[in-house]
Amino acid sequence: MAIHFNHTILSAHDSRSSAEFLVDLLGLPAPTRWGPFQVVATENGANLDYMNVDGVITPQHYAFLVSEPEFDDIFARIRERKLSYWADPGRTKPEEINRHDGGRGLYFEETNGHLIEVITRPYGSGGWNP
Ligand SMILES: [Fe+2]
Repeated sequence: MAIHFNHTILSAHDSRSSAEFLVDLLGLPAPTRWGPFQVVATENGANLDYMNVDGVITPQHYAFLVSEPEFDDIFARIRERKLSYWADPGRTKPEEINRHDGGRGLYFEETNGHLIEVITRPYGSGGWNP
């Protein structure tokens, strides 16, 4: 089966600055423009396409699998910028990271309130199954 997740659209009030914030924080290449989108490209070929919208944005959730050194770098940037972060998606554990599946994980909000997760192990890869 040759079906690969290709892209999703993220609502934004300023697509350019939102995309720049995300690539800067994650250490990804600069966003590119395609039509109405500011495109954030990931290593596995799935793109996050920021698009400007008016009005209230309903926050969505996006998760990124990163290496341990990348996690260190991302975590350092989060702390440098004094961004809030949590160990859980319900945001009951501020200023903590999780250790699910023997890796590390955390959650933070990007500029539109979308909840971004970074993990070093895919869900279930270490046998963790709450
Ligand atoms: Fe998640």
